[in-house]
Amino acid sequence: MEIDRLYILAGFVWLIFGMVFGVYLGITEQLQFANSHAHANLLGFVVPVLFGLIHKNWPGMRASRLAFLQFALYELGAIVLVAGKYDIDNGGNGTLAPPGAVLVVLGTLLMAWLFVRSGTVPVAAHAGGR
Ligand code: HEM
Repeated sequence: MEIDRLYILAGFVWLIFGMVFGVYLGITEQLQFANSHAHANLLGFVVPVLFGLIHKNWPGMRASRLAFLQFALYELGAIVLVAGKYDIDNGGNGTLAPPGAVLVVLGTLLMAWLFVRSGTVPVAAHAGGR
């Protein structure tokens, strides 16, 4: 599967999880989990779907062997960070939050690096701007 579709598919998995989690915490009035719910949706759905659309628009990025490593690094970081947030919301000390945050930042830096290295001409420009 192409990396752009993989990113967007992973985003939908997160979104369904995040929404079901939102419904659950709303119904059960466990609003202390609002922060981990928000991070699941934002780090899990919004950012990865944007990454997928960036990959789609700048296809030079997916030529790099680092593209799948970047995906794995970012997604692992999001899982670890959201688990840490959940722990914090649950009254724990959030041991997983710092390593998760580091992985997410590293994954994002690598994404930015792939973008810079790929050249800046988007696919729409090749197709005459259509
Ligand atoms: C079925 C869909 C969703 C449901 C049922 C839902 C439910 C909830 C509930 C019950 C809260 C807590 C409100 C409170 O503290 O009074 C909340 C907070 C929040 N949700 Fe959702 N949500 C949904 C989708 C989303 C999506 C898609 C996003 C982002 C892309 C999102 C972002 C947020 C944010 C930023 C907060 C505030 C977090 C905070 O105060 O720490 N939600 N949501």
